[in-house]
Amino acid sequence: MMRQTYFVTGTDTEIGKTFVAAAFLHIARERGLHCAALKPVAAGCEIVDGKPVNDDAAQLIAASGTDFDYRTVNPIALEPAIAPHIAAARAGITLSAGDLSRHCRDALANDFEFAIVEGAGGWFVPLNAAETLADVCLGIGARPILVVGMKLGCLNHALLTAHAIAQAGGDLAGWVANCPTPAMPAFEENVATLGERLPAPCLGIVPYLGDDASYRQAAPLLDIEPLLR
Ligand SMILES: Nc1ncnc2c1ncn2[C@@H]1O[C@H](COP(=O)(O)OP(=O)(O)O)[C@@H](O)[C@H]1O
Ligand SMILES: [Mg+2]
Repeated sequence: MMRQTYFVTGTDTEIGKTFVAAAFLHIARERGLHCAALKPVAAGCEIVDGKPVNDDAAQLIAASGTDFDYRTVNPIALEPAIAPHIAAARAGITLSAGDLSRHCRDALANDFEFAIVEGAGGWFVPLNAAETLADVCLGIGARPILVVGMKLGCLNHALLTAHAIAQAGGDLAGWVANCPTPAMPAFEENVATLGERLPAPCLGIVPYLGDDASYRQAAPLLDIEPLLR
């Protein structure tokens, strides 16, 4: 069975990682692939029936149709929307890349054909004094997908992220130019610059799709083919 696992990272927070991850899962599911989704660490939760629930995890569950239960998808659900290692410290928890990777590997040992693991924030978001989320991506052997939030400053953030991925021995699977806000000045030139300098294929260019846009609207704009080989 084909088994593909991708780790969605981004140039920043709130730039469309969940949006793009959900769109890829939607496409894969429409093709009849058995999908899995994980959000190992989430900071920013609502309390539902006394338990913390994160909106990213809920969206990934809905888009993927995964048969994992909520706590398998999102084992670490921290209430405040702040840096995960700080939220964890406040909750008296120490995060560990080894524990998180083990959780993901165990979950992904189940049957699936296409899986997406969403990080939190960006590539080098700290987990503890020494480790970052990059260690989880590498620990589960997932190929990173970089979502570039198209705004001023994104070229630097995108190139830094790609550099850090390569330096760690990661294999960037592709990148997506996504516009979480309307009209970036010199948009076309910025996309062209990314195309020239990022060492992986462009998997899609997603314009701002309006307030309350659904990931379903982004699906036709993404190319999943390079991810299924
Ligand atoms: N291309 C887009 N068009 C319109 N809204 C978008 C687009 N990309 C993202 N959004 C919206 O922007 C917000 C942040 O996106 P999200 O995927 O949650 O970011 P991240 O996972 O990087 O924090 C969400 O409300 C999402 O629906
Ligand atoms: Mg997200």
